[in-house]
Amino acid sequence: RIAGPCSMVMFGVTGDLARKKLMPAIYDLASRGLLPPGFSLVGFARRDWADQDFAKVVYDSVRQHARTEFREEVWRSLAEGFRFVPGAFDDPDAFELLARTVRELDEERGTGGNHAFYLSIPPSWFADVCTRLQESGLSDPRPGTWRRVVIEKPFGHDLRSAQELNEIVEGVFPADSIFRIDHYLGKETVQNILALRFANQLFEPVWNANYVDHVQITMAEDIGIGGRAGYYDEVGAARDVIQNHLLQLLALTAMEEPVAFTADAVRAEKEKVLAAVSLPENLDTATARGRYAAGWQGTEKVDGYLDEDGVDAANRTETYAALRVDVRTRRWAGVPFYLRTGKRLGKRVTEIAVVFRRAPHLPFTSTATEELGANAIVIRVQPDEGMTMRFGSKVPGSQMEVRDVSMDFGYGSSFTESSPEAYERLILDVLLGEPPLFPRHAEVEQSWRILDPVIEHWAASDRPPEDYPAGTWGPDGSDQMMRRDGREWRLP
Ligand code: BG6
Repeated sequence: RIAGPCSMVMFGVTGDLARKKLMPAIYDLASRGLLPPGFSLVGFARRDWADQDFAKVVYDSVRQHARTEFREEVWRSLAEGFRFVPGAFDDPDAFELLARTVRELDEERGTGGNHAFYLSIPPSWFADVCTRLQESGLSDPRPGTWRRVVIEKPFGHDLRSAQELNEIVEGVFPADSIFRIDHYLGKETVQNILALRFANQLFEPVWNANYVDHVQITMAEDIGIGGRAGYYDEVGAARDVIQNHLLQLLALTAMEEPVAFTADAVRAEKEKVLAAVSLPENLDTATARGRYAAGWQGTEKVDGYLDEDGVDAANRTETYAALRVDVRTRRWAGVPFYLRTGKRLGKRVTEIAVVFRRAPHLPFTSTATEELGANAIVIRVQPDEGMTMRFGSKVPGSQMEVRDVSMDFGYGSSFTESSPEAYERLILDVLLGEPPLFPRHAEVEQSWRILDPVIEHWAASDRPPEDYPAGTWGPDGSDQMMRRDGREWRLP
């Protein structure tokens, strides 16, 4: 799968994401031979840069963050297609210059009139950029060519703003040309959820309320907010990752089998299950939020959130969020889904644990039910990619004692193929025009519908988020939430 002739215009090239992920991913695609020969990258930003200055920025980011080996000949041929257009997002003249640059590249490098626009910018600029793209004719494809727009999260900050953004972008680009990025969907282990569930006979028969007690979805990070206070302090953990990554993981875990593995069919099933997600009535007992205080991350002493540069205590931003949701379908009736995420937790791990009901009866006199954990299937999204099954097994010896053991599948030991970085996969899909891994309009809006009441509930409270020391597993309130339901969080 090699992309055909095209160019990409990137808005937001001075940002963290472009530097750490997007530019390195483009180099990695080139290095794997997946970009078309004349591929061109146009940077657009309010900087007084020439093409060479832009190339230097890309070079530094590639040297620091690319995954494939640096090869001079790959770099040189890629860098010949770099252009930079200086300008503000609301400046019509800059967009005229951009249009000229893009047309020149069509001639000089044979990009075929096919252009992708990557908006790695705050959503408050989406309207301006889309309007200027339209006015300058950049959003209109000539017959036989394509235009695509890629938008990065956050897709708004609540349901209303997401609807407004969708309206703006869909006013300029047709729905099938809009690629909303949720980089979790670019991860191999996330795509594998559907393969595990629907390519096997083993799991699906027990994947329902008859056998499953509850599901835990954890996205834990050991890092703090780094230099991102400007973004994060306005957003918080729930909007940053529950609205998108965690609810997408839930959708893939809980959805019904699609009739085909096509974009429309997969996304329709995700939408359906998201529409069935509901919050418990009492949000005090079904949610928890926290904020990291100073503590130890391994041997490193780290600051608390309020001491990070650029954080305003008045915002009461949460760096940890947990909640319980119900999925109102026949398959999941009565099975709670617990979601949690946090910064500065014990370690970096994302996993989905499907925890089963206990065996209804144990015929072994020497094994107490409490000593045996519940059976579980744990999909290890990262970092130790794979899957674990936990079940009871007889302890060798003369007694019939049963103890928990686990069985592992690991990517490292089962596959020789390496996994592409999520952004590599997603950028390639944009250039190929393959939409299955990009959430549709309605999925984004469903996710906000689920989350809005939680965020409003927290905002109305006069209590700040509960402190937890960095390097631990979050605030007590989150453990209490589980205990009230007679359950506990797994220690990944
Ligand atoms: C991003 C969030 O979407 O995902 C970040 O904005 C978070 O706050 C990041 O750190 C985590 O991504 P990954 O791929 O490292 O799990």
